[in-house]
Amino acid sequence: MDHTAIDNGLAAGDCRFDASLAQAYGGTVLAHPAAARMAEVKTVSMLGIETLLMLRAYAMEARGAIVEVGPYVGGSTIAILHGVAASQHKTVVSIDCGGAYLEHPTMPSADIHADWLRNLDAAGFAGRAHLSKGFGNNRGTCADAVAALEGRQIGMLFIDANGFVWQNMRYLVDHLAEDCLLVLDDVTNLLEPDDPDQNIKFGQTRQSVADGLSAGAIEHYGTFLWGTWFGRGTPRLRSVFPGLLAAEERRWT
Ligand SMILES: C[S@@+](CC[C@H](N)C(=O)[O-])C[C@H]1O[C@@H](n2cnc3c(N)ncnc32)[C@H](O)[C@@H]1O
Repeated sequence: MDHTAIDNGLAAGDCRFDASLAQAYGGTVLAHPAAARMAEVKTVSMLGIETLLMLRAYAMEARGAIVEVGPYVGGSTIAILHGVAASQHKTVVSIDCGGAYLEHPTMPSADIHADWLRNLDAAGFAGRAHLSKGFGNNRGTCADAVAALEGRQIGMLFIDANGFVWQNMRYLVDHLAEDCLLVLDDVTNLLEPDDPDQNIKFGQTRQSVADGLSAGAIEHYGTFLWGTWFGRGTPRLRSVFPGLLAAEERRWT
């Protein structure tokens, strides 16, 4: 796989991900020339290197703005910004509720928002993404995020928050492009798929994704280490969204 040739096509808008390209690209992505750079990004990210490289590549393709829910201290944001830097200017908006996570074994944070800012600065991306402080399922927080889009549609949405896919999309769905790239973390742990106790979010995320697939609202392209789902929304997503949201709320809240 010539990743550089594909990247050039993604950046120029000549090439788009589908299931076959995502499988071929993602299956060989550790040989990508940017793998060493993403290994550095991994020091501030809970995600796998394969997923960081795929986020970078998706950000190169994205037509429109990029929104992520749950950047923590900025690893995923930095991977996305590497993809933007290698393609063309795109608005990037990150939504995180913030707080502290002192118990994390390798990346503790006493102030998630402050560490997000510091890590973006250290990576050379200060001011290149807007941080909306609050919950993805909060109307006011999303109003701030949508204002930062300045009328642009969302061409890529990444959710890595609390496992509630549709609830974190509720105030963004009307702003998604019809062919929006979607990335949803925590559908499984590919290394230990039979141990749902590994992560309490797996069950709910997997069920929400299954609902979206059976409603024809999303297309599955691939799942990459540790267990991040990559795909795309379909033109049906908006019309079936109220049912998906209601089912998720009934099931889990
Ligand atoms: C698993 S971490 C994200 C990891 C990150 N993407 C990375 O690259 O390391 C989840 C993050 O989501 C945030 N979070 C949890 N629920 C949220 C919600 N509903 N809305 C916004 N942020 C949320 C947490 O504060 C935390 O920073």
